[in-house]
Amino acid sequence: MSDSVEIDYGPLAVLIGVWAGNKGLDVAPEPDGEENNPYYETITFTAIGDVTNAESQVLAAVHYRQIVQRKSNDKVFHDETGYWMWDAKEGIVMHSLTIPRAVSVIAGGVCTDSGNADGITVLEVSAGVDDENWKIIQSPFMQKNAKTKEFRHRIAVGSDILTYSETTTVEIYGKLFEHTDQNELLRQ
Ligand code: HEM
Repeated sequence: MSDSVEIDYGPLAVLIGVWAGNKGLDVAPEPDGEENNPYYETITFTAIGDVTNAESQVLAAVHYRQIVQRKSNDKVFHDETGYWMWDAKEGIVMHSLTIPRAVSVIAGGVCTDSGNADGITVLEVSAGVDDENWKIIQSPFMQKNAKTKEFRHRIAVGSDILTYSETTTVEIYGKLFEHTDQNELLRQ
């Protein structure tokens, strides 16, 4: 792994830093329907260098930690970590994440807007249990009782503002539920 300053983080470069926002809205499953949870959060993106796989694939990687708190009681109710990775040769963006429900995702996608025209870079990634390439790993309990079937994440970032929306499709309580999260954050 190298952490030299010459590393090209491509569309991930603009993520690096600390972001905070208090316009979050979570829609989560409940046995009798759904709950809506307004939230605030901090996401810290750290440049960690690049890795070489099989002496041919080079990925520039940015680590992140996301801490999300309910507005109603200030309790942390979502804690997520992972990496965003950029394969410059193939133009592929990858997003790995882990949450302490024993669920992990490796999503793949592309940068759909490089920020050249309007200064906003857009990254879109997805994964699915039936997807050949980009997968979801979950514990036996979660596979049986709260199975994540699909994950989609869109993040749009400019020099000082970051917005995202993500949809996690969960099979739970005998139905398919679109568990959604969105927020707008400012660079700190
Ligand atoms: C800002 C991001 C997120 C927030 C605030 C959030 C919040 C929540 C909340 C409040 C619940 C309901 C828990 C309960 O009823 O006790 C829930 C359920 C769940 N979440 Fe998330 N979540 C987020 C992102 C994710 C992501 C990225 C995944 C997976 C890729 C995920 C997977 C799940 C699953 C599988 C459940 C069902 C478990 C259950 O309701 O018992 N969530 N989430």
